[in-house]
Amino acid sequence: MLFRRAKSLVGLDIGSSSVKAIELKPSGKGYKVSAIGVEPVPADSIVDGAIIDGGAVADAVRRLFANKKFKAKDVVASLSGNSVIVKKITLPAMTEAELSESIYWEAEQYIPFDIQDVNLDYEILEIGTGQDSQGSMDVLLVAAKKDKIADYTNVIAQAGKTPVIVDVDAFALQNAYEVNYGFEPTAVVAILNAGASAININILSGPQSVFTRDISMGGNAFTEAVQKELDLPFESAEQLKKGHDVEGASFEDARAVLKAMTDNVLLEVEKTFDFFKATAASDRIDRIMLCGGASRVEGFAAALRERFDTEVEEFDPFRQVAIDPKKLGLASLDDVAPFAAVAVGLALRKVGDR
Ligand SMILES: Nc1ncnc2c1ncn2[C@@H]1O[C@H](COP(=O)(O)OP(=O)(O)OP(=O)(O)O)[C@@H](O)[C@H]1O
Ligand SMILES: [Mg+2]
Repeated sequence: MLFRRAKSLVGLDIGSSSVKAIELKPSGKGYKVSAIGVEPVPADSIVDGAIIDGGAVADAVRRLFANKKFKAKDVVASLSGNSVIVKKITLPAMTEAELSESIYWEAEQYIPFDIQDVNLDYEILEIGTGQDSQGSMDVLLVAAKKDKIADYTNVIAQAGKTPVIVDVDAFALQNAYEVNYGFEPTAVVAILNAGASAININILSGPQSVFTRDISMGGNAFTEAVQKELDLPFESAEQLKKGHDVEGASFEDARAVLKAMTDNVLLEVEKTFDFFKATAASDRIDRIMLCGGASRVEGFAAALRERFDTEVEEFDPFRQVAIDPKKLGLASLDDVAPFAAVAVGLALRKVGDR
């Protein structure tokens, strides 16, 4: 059994505007996409990372898997927003066994929920070796509320699949980044995934995540601003935002609102970066890797580049993952690449890999 390949899994990113699924196959030294799909989710079915209308989300997931190219039954999904807490804590150095004994007790003071209500996961990052860190170690603590996890796993089960892992968006992004870009040992890279309702930020120093935060602002804020300013229905504002003229308004009319909202969003990003610089071991960010649908708002990447005076690169989740859009029934890779990073990262997980 030693050489048996780990069972294949489907990476399922349950987003508030759409669900995305990807299945990978080993290919040469790397991977290729064997199935991919995106299905819209009705507005307000998922709010702030919480599933409000489970039936509607399950329907979207079911439609996704009506695509026969998906073979695996086991699914890896992820949480984000305020249902998960990721924190680096410093504890006295101890063995794995001692840590697993005491982690719930230690975690209690860092988690704003009743400890009975959360699932905890943790990883020892570093045993302190510096002058003033003698006898201590850094532990990454991840806590997710059990009822939120259950909402996600129920939706997957309702859609006829088996949920086997529930990960965190920020970590999925990191996995997708690693496989596509590798790690530069000394670089500080901020991955920024701008979705419809949130922006996930994961800052990596070399191979290690040193800071994560979700900003609860995203593409919807742009659409709502356009909607309000130009007095349009949501769908028209949505189209306009993407650069398509609609009845009663042209993209030109929306430019100023989009620019103003970009400034608002960048202010939140700046606060996050400032907080990172004040609390983490690094005071610089060398590069921003940008993905998520909302990152496509005209001028967004350029505004980031200018504001933070740093390199901004489009995060291509298929840089080292082979994909044949035609074979998979996609009109163009551009239709999926900006949205696919989390799903790629999830599809890379193997049961029991950590
Ligand atoms: N070309 C475009 N220009 C501007 N915005 C776009 C464009 N394409 C998609 N978007 C926006 O991107 C958002 C969807 O992105 P994405 O699929 O990454 O979000 P999500 O994963 O569903 O949301 P979340 O993770 O926040 O729950 C929507 O707000 C959509 O309007
Ligand atoms: Mg998303």
